[in-house]
Amino acid sequence: MLKGKFPVDQFQALETPFYYYDLQLLQETLEVVKRESGQYGYHVHYAVKANANPRLLALIAQNGLGADCVSGGEIQAALEAGFPNDKIVFAGVGKADWEINLGLERRIACFNVESAAELEVIDELAGRKGVVARVALRINPEVDAHTHAKITTGLKENKFGINLSQLPQVLKRMETMSHVELTGLHCHIGSQITDMSAFRNLVIRVNEIQEELEKKGLRVEHLNFGGGLGIDYYHPNHLPIAAFDNYFAVFHTLLDKRPGQQVHFEPGRSIVAPCGSLISKVLYVKEGETKRFAILDAGFTDLIRPAMYDAYHRVENLTSDEPEELYDVVGPICESSDVFAKDIALNKARRGDLFALRSAGAYGEIMASRYNCRKLPRAHFSDEF
Ligand code: LLP
Repeated sequence: MLKGKFPVDQFQALETPFYYYDLQLLQETLEVVKRESGQYGYHVHYAVKANANPRLLALIAQNGLGADCVSGGEIQAALEAGFPNDKIVFAGVGKADWEINLGLERRIACFNVESAAELEVIDELAGRKGVVARVALRINPEVDAHTHAKITTGLKENKFGINLSQLPQVLKRMETMSHVELTGLHCHIGSQITDMSAFRNLVIRVNEIQEELEKKGLRVEHLNFGGGLGIDYYHPNHLPIAAFDNYFAVFHTLLDKRPGQQVHFEPGRSIVAPCGSLISKVLYVKEGETKRFAILDAGFTDLIRPAMYDAYHRVENLTSDEPEELYDVVGPICESSDVFAKDIALNKARRGDLFALRSAGAYGEIMASRYNCRKLPRAHFSDEF
């Protein structure tokens, strides 16, 4: 395994900043996902939002996973990468008509519906085409994921999902619709969850909900638990693969799965985060009065997670083994939030050194912007070297 080993000599010739993807690590991760989910017969749809780089998507599709999409653009990207239409699910609180029509035309597996209003539109658009849309209702299980507030989704105050108290009304409305078929229940409580008790609480909650629904005579073909499994951002070399074994075991142990019922998951981060690093060059070392700054050519336009979620990404100086010093690692963008890390110990940095910001394969390249008229970061892959 290429645990944190980079082809640094070859990197020197490349234009920075760029994302470097370790395809071998991604393949090893996919092997673990297939083994751990496969033993229980679970279905895994990769959450395309985490990274839609065509090469990564193609590798994930080749490994037989499905795709979880949140826009028409993602559905197109998934189809182009080779995901079969009947393994594509489509979620999102604000699906536009053209996106719903695309899903209907391409006969995707399921629409994960987030409100009664959306259900009515899907029913109408499917009716116009003379087809029946397969839908899962995204419920809000009111389970706290104990993660960062900006990536918590399963609480009443979040915009996502249908609140449990409103579910009976929605089901009643649905009885009058002839172009939607209820096939499943969907939920997603948040992201970067490393405490398995949040998932345990989720399963216990879904068991209760399922019992309630069955009392009303409603049985669903599949249960979809969304994504959310976290990774270890602090030890990318020692623990490069997320705890898929513990994760799937929680569901196997606690879920009251009905005979023949399918169980679906939508991991994003846990699949692609560890295999990607943002590689950047030191432009200047600036000795401030109280601080020493390593100013990189990458900024929050290339990796927004630290600025947006106070996220930690391990920073390494790939080209120095001189004694460590404390640095604030910052980008060139004209905003004081353009900071990757504060007061971290790094091997002494000089102009031209290459830094790696680790575990950036998820929500990195895909969230890049052109603010300050900057170029989008490029991507390079381990098999190029
Ligand atoms: N399914 C649904 C319905 C979701 O909303 C998400 C993520 C996923 C699956 C995939 O979750 P994952 O396995 O990646 O945790 N940009 C943020 C994360 C936003 C997550 C949004 N939803 C970040 O950089 O931390």
